[in-house]
Amino acid sequence: MIPDKFYITTPIYYVNDRPHIGHAYTTILADVLSRFHRLLGVPTWFLTGTDEHGQKVQQAAARAGLTPQEQADRTVVRFQELWKRLEITNDDFIRTTEPRHADVVKEILQDLYDRGEIYRAEYDGWYDVGSETFVNERDLNLAPGQSPADLPNIVRIRESNYFFRMSQYQEWLIRYIEEHPRFIQPDFRRNETLGFLRKPLNDLCISRPKSRLAWGIELPFDPDYVCYVWFDALVNYISAIGYRRDEARFRRWWPASYHLIGKDILTTHTVYWPTMLKAMGLPMPECVFAHGWWLVGQTKMSKSLGNVVNPMDMIDRYGVDPFRYFLMAEMVLGQDASFTEEAFVRRYNADLANDLGNLLSRVLKLAYAHFEGKVPEGPSETPRTIAEGDLWHAVQSAASEVESSIAEMRIDAGLARVMEAVRETNRYLEQKQPWSQAKDSDRRPLALTLYTAAEALRSISALLWPVMPGKMIELRVALGLPVDAPRIEGAKQWGVLQPGASLGMPVMLFPRARLEKAATAPVATAAGVVTAEGKGAGSQKKQSAVGPPPTETISYEDFMKADLRTARVLAAERMPNADKLLRLEIEVGAERRQIVAGIAKHYTPESLIGRTIIVVANLKPANIRGIESCGMLLAVTTDDGALRLLTTDGDAPTGARVK
Ligand code: ME8
Ligand code: MG
Repeated sequence: MIPDKFYITTPIYYVNDRPHIGHAYTTILADVLSRFHRLLGVPTWFLTGTDEHGQKVQQAAARAGLTPQEQADRTVVRFQELWKRLEITNDDFIRTTEPRHADVVKEILQDLYDRGEIYRAEYDGWYDVGSETFVNERDLNLAPGQSPADLPNIVRIRESNYFFRMSQYQEWLIRYIEEHPRFIQPDFRRNETLGFLRKPLNDLCISRPKSRLAWGIELPFDPDYVCYVWFDALVNYISAIGYRRDEARFRRWWPASYHLIGKDILTTHTVYWPTMLKAMGLPMPECVFAHGWWLVGQTKMSKSLGNVVNPMDMIDRYGVDPFRYFLMAEMVLGQDASFTEEAFVRRYNADLANDLGNLLSRVLKLAYAHFEGKVPEGPSETPRTIAEGDLWHAVQSAASEVESSIAEMRIDAGLARVMEAVRETNRYLEQKQPWSQAKDSDRRPLALTLYTAAEALRSISALLWPVMPGKMIELRVALGLPVDAPRIEGAKQWGVLQPGASLGMPVMLFPRARLEKAATAPVATAAGVVTAEGKGAGSQKKQSAVGPPPTETISYEDFMKADLRTARVLAAERMPNADKLLRLEIEVGAERRQIVAGIAKHYTPESLIGRTIIVVANLKPANIRGIESCGMLLAVTTDDGALRLLTTDGDAPTGARVK
């Protein structure tokens, strides 16, 4: 299962603007995967960089009163500085304006032109200035009577251009995708590409006349044109590793293990790029993995909304490692995720300050108080005593689950498993009561407890190191270990800590964080959010979300009249002409039903799929906008009007009664 080499890439980012949390996410994810492979001892190459040509950059430069090259030179530094700050361990950083890239693009263009893969033709049609692409009228979703020219950004263009014979590879590509299920991940993205390929595929226009756009790589066979920015940018994945320059190096790393991308650039990576590679006679990348969007609250981040999260602010406030941890733990890979500072602080305090940070403090304090800051005596063999053996076993099973979570791109699940091992270690201490053991004149029981907890922590620190490299090295140094990067063998081996060795200084790894704004009220006042226009949620903005305290009591029997059940969301979609409503298909035990919920302003349909929710299963069905709603989901409203669905703390079967 462990690969013999690992080559991973991120998109190369446009230098039209400063990096935000979305760019940080993809790059941190690539870093975490790289570090995991290094932990496993796999030779790893990690590439990132910047996309510096094209209209977006030219326009940004014009706005700033700079030349495009100056614009690129200034902005690239922001990316490089952020990656340094975030402890990103990329092995290379490619800029598309570098000759090592641009020259290779030219050679590829010339070669494809010589072999007739690129031809010249007259184009007369519509062009989307926003996305810099030629568009078909039928893809524009025009209203009856509407002309493409009525749409913003769409202009009529009649000009000579160069085209790549992409259409001839359509059948081949469909077959390739069908025969290689891992090629495009997650599965629903593969289906998206296959859906796209059901329509006829056009040849790809790969040139822009300099009269319209001058900022690009000049076509080697026609100096009046520059290369289309995507045809230039995608080549970075091979130019950076020596394609046409250093054959041995290129063969060492290609094909890529992963092209990590966001879902916004799926077509370019799963249609353009594979056909380009095919025309060049090169093998396909092993996997193009498209992750979802980071939303702010429930809305898309955008400059015009002014809700863009600046990673530097988060790092300044809470530190690099907690930020990396949150992004990795919070996003189910492939799906959208929501970023709010409240959620960040909540998770930080629960997982890092309470569970992990306190565990280390407890162990160190006791070791300093009773063993002069030295590693206490523990068994040299894997412990066979029940509590110790069980704890070590739990940590080891977390280690193997982390390994499989990496192979399956379920990093969030792997991390959750490690945090479970942390809590297991805390429970072990609570059970052993080292504070009472310390009163015993026999030091051995206390020594065994502390040694076992310290060994568990040592192993856990290696598993968390790819995500929180700085803090985990601090933790390891506090346990008396060297500052070197850990290896998986050590994490799986009992008894690495040497009794009598000096521990490092006690450290406070994760001081509790407090939200600067007033925190929201997470108190459960089950808002009936099914009410047609979501009255329970959005319209209460100004009032407190916390209702008055209950005055009357009810009996347990009364409570049980409400049949509350767990349910899993199987499908979700927006409802036409109702911008607050979503139609959900849910599984309640063996039953499948549909409900209508007024939560569209707070949750995207996509983010709900697969989640466990709580529904009132015996509510009289209601007809909402002509759709029958069989049940009601539960949620609470926060003081600032946000909505939080009720769910379960960990996995639960569907149809389980809430009681
Ligand atoms: O598209 N959530 O560059 P780009 C998650 N130059 N990820 C996000 C995100 C968000 N809200 N916003 C951006 C380009 N990203 C081209 C790529 S590759 C040969 C050329 C991340 O600067 C995500 O990885 O617009 C997305 O695909 C990428 O940034 C787009 O960056
Ligand atoms: Mg973009």
